[in-house]
Order: sequence, then C-alpha cells, then structure tokens
Amino acid sequence: MLISREIIEEIRSRNDIVELIGSYVNLKRAGANFNGLCPYHSEKSPSFTVFPATQSFYCFGCGAGGDAITFAMRSENLDYPSAVEFLAKRAGITITSDDREEKGGISKRRILDMNLAAAKYFRACLFDERIGRVGMDYLTKNRRLAPSVIKHFGLGFAPDGFGGLTDHMHKLGFSDEELVVGFLCGKSQKTGRAYDYFRNRIIFPIINTSGDVIAFGGRVMDDSKPKYLNSSDTPGFKKSKNLFALNFAKNHCSERMILCEGYMDVIALHAAGFENAVATLGTALTSEQARLMAKHTKQVIISYDSDEAGQAATRKAVRMLSEVGLDVKILRMEGAKDPDEYIRKFGADRFRSVIDASRTGFEFKMETTLHKYDLSVSDHKIKASGELCEYISEVWSGVEREVYISAAAKRLGISEEGLKNDVEMLRRKKIKTYKEKTSQQARLGAMGVGDKINSDAIKNIRAKSAEEAVVGLLLMFEEYRALVVSKKVGLCKDDFFSEFHSRVFEKIISLHEENQYDFSMLGQFFNPDEMGRLEGLEQKRRSLTENGRAVFEQCVSTLKAEKQIAAQGTDSIDSIRMLLEQKRNKSNN
Ligand code: UTP
Ligand code: MN
Repeated sequence: MLISREIIEEIRSRNDIVELIGSYVNLKRAGANFNGLCPYHSEKSPSFTVFPATQSFYCFGCGAGGDAITFAMRSENLDYPSAVEFLAKRAGITITSDDREEKGGISKRRILDMNLAAAKYFRACLFDERIGRVGMDYLTKNRRLAPSVIKHFGLGFAPDGFGGLTDHMHKLGFSDEELVVGFLCGKSQKTGRAYDYFRNRIIFPIINTSGDVIAFGGRVMDDSKPKYLNSSDTPGFKKSKNLFALNFAKNHCSERMILCEGYMDVIALHAAGFENAVATLGTALTSEQARLMAKHTKQVIISYDSDEAGQAATRKAVRMLSEVGLDVKILRMEGAKDPDEYIRKFGADRFRSVIDASRTGFEFKMETTLHKYDLSVSDHKIKASGELCEYISEVWSGVEREVYISAAAKRLGISEEGLKNDVEMLRRKKIKTYKEKTSQQARLGAMGVGDKINSDAIKNIRAKSAEEAVVGLLLMFEEYRALVVSKKVGLCKDDFFSEFHSRVFEKIISLHEENQYDFSMLGQFFNPDEMGRLEGLEQKRRSLTENGRAVFEQCVSTLKAEKQIAAQGTDSIDSIRMLLEQKRNKSNN
C-alpha cells in the first residue's frame, strides 16, 4: 500500500536533511549548501552536496542522491517502508495504520475540537467580572492592551484552581485521557485523575493558518517562574512547524515579515499596525519555521531582544533564513529590551523608522565581527578581515561585493585594494572547485555509456538530453506537471525513447493526478540509484537559468520529432536532416 504524501511530508519535515546527513558525514558550509566527502564512494575532495532548500543531496562524483528517505535507505540499508519508519522513530513520530489517529487513538480533529472549547472557556473566564478581574486588570493596566486587541487575539484567563477547566470539559464530554493527551491537563500521580494544567495565568491561544486552535501559552501575572507555560506537541500541534500569529500575518506579509521572540511583542506590534509580525513558540527558530516563512514572504526582519541571548539567536536566525532564500534584515533597537517595550516607550512611528533603518546581513556581520576583535592588535585585525572576506566572497553580485569591500576597508582601516585581492582570491578558489564539480557532472551526464540506470539512453543522444530536460523540469515545477495532465502540452509515455524516463514520466503524472506528488513519494517506486539519477536531473535544471515554458515545450517537440524520424527509418543521414528541418519549420510557424 502506498504511504500517503501527508505522512511522507511530515517525516521529511521533521528530519532536517542537513542535520540528518550531518550525523553521518562531516559537512562544511559552502554558500547556501553543504559539502562533505561522499559516504558512498572514496574521494579526496568533497563532491557530495547537501541542499537545504530542496532538502536533498547529490554526489557529483558518483551520482548518489535523493532525499532524507533515500539517504536512510542507503546508509542504514533499509527498504522504503523501513526507512520511513526509521526516520519517524528518529523524529519521535508514531505511524499507525490511520495517520489521523495518533496517541491513544485520539484523533487530531478531536483534539482541535477540545482546544476550541477550552479557548472559549478561557475567554469567558477573562471576560467574567468576578473570575477574570485580575487577568483583565493585568492586560489592560500593566500591559495596556485595548479590549479590541484582547478580543482579536482571543486571549483568555485560566483561574487559580485545579478543576475549573477539567470540570467544564467533562461536561462537554471530553475524557481525562483526552484532556491529558491534548495537554490541557496534567495527570495526578496519586489519584490518576486529570487536573488543570494552566492555573492563574493569562492564556494565549495559538491558532494555525486554517484557523484551528492548536495549542496554548500561559503567562503568570507576576514574577513567579516559569514565566510562560506552553502546551507540548500534541497530535494537532508541532511547535517547530508553527509560528505565533501567522494566522493573522499571512495576509499582510507578501513583502516582508517581522520575526520576534515573544507573544507580547507580536501582540504589541499588531496593535500598533505591524500586522506582519510573528514569533516562534517558546523555542529557537527551526529550519521548518524558516521554510514556512519563505512560503509566505520575501524578506524577514529579525527583531529579537536586544540582550546577548537575543543577539546570539539573531546570528543563528540570519543563517537559517538566508539558507532558505529569504532576504534578511536585522533590527537595531536601542533604549528598549524588546519591540513591545520599544513601542510603549517611543511609539509606532519611531518603530517604523527603526524598521526602515534595519541592517542588512552584511552590516550585522560587520558589526558583530568588529565587536569581537580589538583592531589595535594586528593579529585581531587580520582575523576580522579574514572573517569579513569569507563572508563577502560568497556574495553573488559584483556590485554588492564592491560596496561591502569598501565599507569593510574603511572600518578595518586597511586599503580597499588589499581587501579586494583577498576576496577575489577566495572567490576564484571557490569558483574553481565549483567548476571542477560541474564539468565532472557534465562529462558523466553527456557520456551515457555504460549507464546502468538508464541503459537504453545511448540509443538516441538527442532524445536523451531532451528527455532529461523534460524530466528535470517536471520534477522541478508543478506548473509543467499540470500542463501535461490538462493536455495543454501533449506528452505521453510512448514519446520517450528510454524505458527509465518513460517510467519516471508515468509515475510523476499519475502521482500528480492523485494529488499525491512529492519528490519523496517517488522513492516508493524507484530504487536509491534511480532516485540519485532523478535528483541529479533536477539539480542540473536548477543550475540552469532558462527553465521557462518555451524550453519545456521545445524539448517536448524535439522528442516528438525524434520519434517521427525513428518511425520513418534511419537509412540516410540526409533524410533525417530533411525531416528535422521540416519539423523545425513547422514548429516555428
Ligand atoms: P521573554 O522572557 O522575552 O518574554 O520570552 P516576553 O515575550 O518579552 O514576555 P513579557 O513581555 O515579559 O510578557 C520570549 C518568549 O520565550 C518564550 C515565550 O514564547 C516568550 O514569549 N518563553 C519565555 C517560554 O516559553 N517560557 C518562559 O518561561 C519564558
Ligand atoms: Mn517582553
């Protein structure tokens, strides 16, 4: 039986590929990707690459490649279902026959219903004059929140006592077991009965982008500890995959998003008109959250607390967010510890100008580097310049590099020329390694001789490269899969010369038709060697700039022309040429 796309995606998103492979192979960062020595063939210089953006790996030396599941299959010598199970266990997920039923047979839907009922209860308590007075006073007086903001975020109050919520939920038909699994209740060691988990706290419901209440955060109203309690992961909720207030921010963030540390920062920002603010949920930013943000926006402004911990977290976040292709900026906030305090002290307008003045990744890098070293010590100066050169050498745009070099030279008190030489030397080195890798890849690809995976490719070299392009593009873009399925582009499995490509085509299309397409799903039909080939085809397309619809259609018509020629027989070179000419003229008209 097919393992569903939902489970596969869950497993893949809970096993970050850099972290997974990093536990087997020593990986070094190389731009947006990571390199290491290939675990599958012996080599001295690393041609094994891990791509965080596509969550995949590929060895330009031996052609091994694929996703986390392929990696687990190869490394642990497992078949596909066992590799899925292996990764699930690794991430602490239990797979049962019905993936909607997880812990103790309690469904996700049931937990979400329970959360909604609890959120209503907490809200009713907060707005109850008698019960919620302390909570309401805290929010309106201490935190100066307007009632409309309190309502907008669905804030609530958990009364002080062990049975308020539990009794209420019992009346609605929820069992002790359900309340415990849903993390609304703890379970008494003595009596085995459920008791309220959140007591005497302000309640922040966490709502996902579908509008479901998936968890709660609860804050004390004084200085007692812990300041916040958060629900742990439940069948309806994975902290590492969600962001606070994304349900509101998603409609205001197509250009940029503001990332904060705390719930209260987000609430203060939204109240002040910055409705594109989100926060992590009591944890450090995860790569899943970074990818989630990349789905919604282009630029992220990191607005973490101004203390040392906040700045350390900022450095990490800059890397994680850049890695997924986001444009990253860093807020410089002076005179307040966090955005909530800043807005309260200086107002929304001042905050807006701070946003507009936020630093680029480079400016932040330069400031933190210079902060680390004492430039009057020459050894320190060299180290600082080395770090900055390394950073600048990875910058793609020449103009940008020049601007950075000039700024860095000024700050370091050294000549632009000297710095530029170092940067360009580093860059040349990096480009050389990159070129060596790609030319090796090109040689391997072009030969097609002795190709075990695609043994009949050699039959028709022209068709081979068109087929590879078509497959690569279909793997890369849903748009082209849709074109084929809707018959806007006429292409069928018999248009392929190679049995392998034909099979791949058939599977991609049928998965797409069943709304089950995901690169990882292909692993159920193709062995790890074949998956490596597919990964290689996709990466090859990614490295090219021209992947538009015209290219796709051109490759399809090349295939059709080749088929026609093949059908007419191949007795003379001239006749082949003639036919091709005819075909070209036709497709040009
Ligand atoms: P902060 O301590 O900076 O709190 O923690 P805050 O958001 O500024 O809250 P206020 O302004 O004091 O009310 C930042 C975030 O870290 C998580 C919460 O998500 C919090 O919003 N956190 C903090 C916890 O999960 N548990 C804690 O005990 C403390
Ligand atoms: Mn705060």
